[in-house]
Order: sequence, then C-alpha cells, then structure tokens
Amino acid sequence: MTKSFNALKLAEEQIADLDQQLLKRKLRITNSPCDTKALVEDRELKAFCSNDYLGLANHSEIAKALSEGAQKYGVGSGASHLISGHSITHDLLEKRLASFQSAHIPKARALFFSTGYLANLTAITGIARLAPQGSGSIYSAKLNHASLIDGVRLASAQTNASVTLFDHTQQDLLIDLLKKDSKTLKLIVTDGVFSMDGDLAPVKKLLEIAEEYDALLLVDDAHGFGVLGKQGHGILEQENIYSDRIIYIGTLGKAAGVSGAFICAQDNFVEWLVQKGRPYIYSTATPPAIAHALLKSLEIIESDEGKQRRAQLHRLIDIWQQEMIFSTWEKVSSCSPIQPLILGGNADALLAATLLDEAGYWIPAIRPPTVPVGSSRLRITFSANHSENDLRSLIKTLQLIERQVLEKNHS
Ligand SMILES: Cc1ncc(COP(=O)(O)O)c(C=O)c1O
Repeated sequence: MTKSFNALKLAEEQIADLDQQLLKRKLRITNSPCDTKALVEDRELKAFCSNDYLGLANHSEIAKALSEGAQKYGVGSGASHLISGHSITHDLLEKRLASFQSAHIPKARALFFSTGYLANLTAITGIARLAPQGSGSIYSAKLNHASLIDGVRLASAQTNASVTLFDHTQQDLLIDLLKKDSKTLKLIVTDGVFSMDGDLAPVKKLLEIAEEYDALLLVDDAHGFGVLGKQGHGILEQENIYSDRIIYIGTLGKAAGVSGAFICAQDNFVEWLVQKGRPYIYSTATPPAIAHALLKSLEIIESDEGKQRRAQLHRLIDIWQQEMIFSTWEKVSSCSPIQPLILGGNADALLAATLLDEAGYWIPAIRPPTVPVGSSRLRITFSANHSENDLRSLIKTLQLIERQVLEKNHS
C-alpha cells in the first residue's frame, strides 16, 4: 500500500522547525486605531512600527470622508474595474494621482489598485509581456520588497525573461551587465526607499543608466509617496526627475494613511496594463468609499498641514541621528522615517523586542526572510504624530536595552 502524503503533519513539523530557529511569527491583535499609541492585547504600548508616516491613518477628516463615501457609494464595488466596478470616484482619484506625477512623467496616467502587492505584480508582469517570449531581461535590486521579488518571479515564469539581481549601491556592476545585454526589453526594478533599511535608491543614476542602455525603470515608492518632495509627491519630485522611461508605483496604505496603491506611467503603458494586466483585470475593484477617502488624504498631503507633518518627520529624523550615536548596533545611513537597528542574530533581535515590549514599546523584531540572514533588526519608524519627547524617551529606553542585550551576550 502506498503511504499517503500527510500534509497536515508536514505543516505541523515545519511550524515547529520555524519555532526552533526563532523564525516563527506571531499575530498580535490591536483594539485601537493605528496611531502612536496602540492597545495591544489589553496593554497600551507606544508604537514605533507602523508605516503611517504622516499620522493620517486616524485623521478625523479622512475618517469623515470615508463615511461620506460609504453613504454615497455604499460599501462594495461589486465587480472588477472592467466589468462594472469602476466608479466616478475611482476615476477622480486616478486623475489626482496622475496630476501628482505629471511634472515627472510625460502623459502621466494612473491606475488604482487595492494593494501595492497587486500593483507590483501587475506592473512587472504586464511590462514584461510587451516583449516576445524569452526576449526580456529584468534587473532587480537585491533588497527589493517581497512584492517586487514575486512580481519578477511571476514575470519570468510567464515570459521566460532572464532575471539578474543587482546591488543598488554598486551601479558599475549593473552597467557591466547591461553592456552585454542584447535583449529586446530591459527592465530595471527597484524600491524607491528600501523598506527595511530606509535608504533611498540612487534613482537619478539608475535613470541615467536606463537611458544609456535603453531600459525601462520601475520604481516602487511605497515608502516615499507622501513623505518625500516638498509637496509629498514622492521620490521623483525629491530627485527632480522627468522621464518617459519610468513606471512609478505608490502605495496608499502607508503615508497616505488609508489603503491601496497605484501605478503611474505614460498613458500607453497604463492602457496596456488595463488590457493585459491579469492581477488588475481579475480582481474586484476597491470599494469606492476608499477612493473617496483617499481624495481627502491627497488634499492633506499637498496642503500646509502635509508640509508641517513632513517637517515634523525631519525634526524626528535629525534628533535620531544626533542622539543615537551612543549605539554600537549597526545603523543604515537613512534620511527617511525608517531607521533600523541591525542586531544580527534572531535571538538578540527577539530579546530586544521583548525588552522593549516590557518597557511599553511596540517595535517587533524583523527576521529572515524579510531581511537577509544575519541581519535581524529592530525596524523603528516615525510618525508625524510622535512628539520630540516621545522619541527622546524611546532613545533613553533603547540605551538601557542595548546594555541589557550586550550584558546577556557577555554573561
Ligand atoms: C516597498 C513595498 N512595496 C510594496 C508593498 C506592498 O504594499 P501593500 O501593503 O499596499 O500591498 C510594501 C508593503 O509593505 C512595501 O514595503
């Protein structure tokens, strides 16, 4: 008799294995809005871990717009965009999003998605499918977000495109690779702000390379949209870039405080994605009420209030850079609100996160595969709703905790 494949037992064993390697993750339940304080399993913790950089996730005007949107359009879209789910408020939002990038991308058109993950899958597979089978090559930055990695893998499986990883800090190596590349379609894929390190991609330099070697450049600005640039339009504004080679992705569940994402590129690229972007075509449209709330969020991002919120983030980043010099934990040169402390091993990162929790802070340990093996870390993020005192108290606590972790290692 053939032995049956016991998937359930395998799952149990593999979970136990993850636990043993200190890689098991745990869901924690909150019972409060996303803000600088969170009620987590009945305890109030000071949170320095969300991506709500501008502090808009609990903004009363956006919450009001969401309920107005629900009154006006109901709660669901009912179908995918191409069937019957594309409402006037989706259309308005896409026009506003395109206007944010129109100084940076000629004939800019935006397409709204329910998540950044879906936007990245759509953009990468869709663009790769412009080339005949086997005639595309994709260059993907090594530290790209999982949704870009998965988009690249899916595109390669669908189109037989070759895939090469590159280190975003070593552009000469990318140039060497492109010099030898005679493929029809070349696509460079990068995070704008690296999500776990907080440093910025050298987008200007990558664009120069794309121009020299006739490649397209896809920039996922999930952590830059709303935060970078005077008006909060993102990394293209900050770097003063204008190019028809750019496929820009922004997400709307981070600094914009709500949910969703968008692709912005030249009109014809976007029309191609509407025609052929499978994750876009075969997914239910986001509720129009969300799009309605996002219109308010975009208004705030561009307003004086948005500017003040970005200025507060810069004050926090300056304090961090000046006051964390005592720490022997590895830091990344980051001018964004993502400021990691790299402890290395899983055990140390978990210990530090537990000690922080005991001290009333919520900063989870980030471990592989989210970050490379041996670079487990505390990913500390700031929100414009944090006060300077909030940050100074955290820094004092970190000083004590670093000592405790180091003492444990020497005991
Ligand atoms: C760089 C980057 N791109 C894309 C995403 C996915 O966006 P979403 O959460 O909207 O799916 C994330 C999410 O954390 C991200 O960090």
